[in-house]
Amino acid sequence: MATLNFNFAGKLAIVTGGAAGIGFKLTTSYLEAGGKVVVWDYSQDALNNAQKELGKYASQVTFQQVDVTNRTSVEAAIKALPGPVDILVNNAGITRDKSFAKMTDVDWDAVISTNLTGIYNVTKGLFEKFNTASSHKRVINISSVVGLYGNFGQANYAATKAGVIGFTKTLAKELGRKGFTVNAIAPGFIKTAMTNAMPKEVLEGMAAKVPLQRLGEVDDIANACLFLSSEQASYITGTVISVDGGIVL
Ligand SMILES: NC(=O)c1ccc[n+]([C@@H]2O[C@H](COP(=O)([O-])OP(=O)(O)OC[C@H]3O[C@@H](n4cnc5c(N)ncnc54)[C@H](O)[C@@H]3O)[C@@H](O)[C@H]2O)c1
Repeated sequence: MATLNFNFAGKLAIVTGGAAGIGFKLTTSYLEAGGKVVVWDYSQDALNNAQKELGKYASQVTFQQVDVTNRTSVEAAIKALPGPVDILVNNAGITRDKSFAKMTDVDWDAVISTNLTGIYNVTKGLFEKFNTASSHKRVINISSVVGLYGNFGQANYAATKAGVIGFTKTLAKELGRKGFTVNAIAPGFIKTAMTNAMPKEVLEGMAAKVPLQRLGEVDDIANACLFLSSEQASYITGTVISVDGGIVL
């Protein structure tokens, strides 16, 4: 599947968790569209792999090891930025799935501090680092369908992904006058390394629950994200785009 044809020449995007999975596709898509990208990820292995794979974009991309849960780490990365920011994609996220009865404080705290406090840390830290001259400042937060309808075994994760939506809508109201649009994307079941390792029957069972009868591709998320980042989306703010084949219905 090809991504849409956008032009991000002269724009700087930060993608958290941008070295693997959906984030890596987002990084690649902004680079293909001529943008500059700063990849923030806490996995040095993932950063090394991404750097290898994106060798041909070396002049457009920089990689920084950042833990979004750690404000000192975020501050250090901000000091090393190559210039003012135009686009922030808060994509880094984790799961620690267990039924509520079995969930531990450690499971709860890990997911809240990455998926929710991490988004606060990064957005708060970068707020003053956006390109003041630009009226097209973009923040895109990666939520999940689970934040809209809940999911067995994901009380911690669903709470964060619903929280991301409240955060998005509030920032859209507060920051519109400062030239920001702030939106969320709620992916459904997306094919990644994790789903690729699952048995075929399980994947077919998941696809059968989706009105469009297939799992999503990382390109589906990239298409929505690049659109929300583009000039063409300049009157869209505070919304949640479900990219889920209709499973939320
Ligand atoms: N894959 C899906 O089906 C799906 C569905 C709905 C929502 N999402 C959301 O999309 C986003 C990306 O998911 P994915 O499937 O690509 O996950 P992934 O695990 O493949 O990639 C996540 C990346 O985030 C990084 N990361 C995790 N914690 C971090 C931290 N504290 N600081 C910096 N980087 C950190 C990881 O190193 C990794 O590179 C997440 O927010 C996830 O909740 C995914």
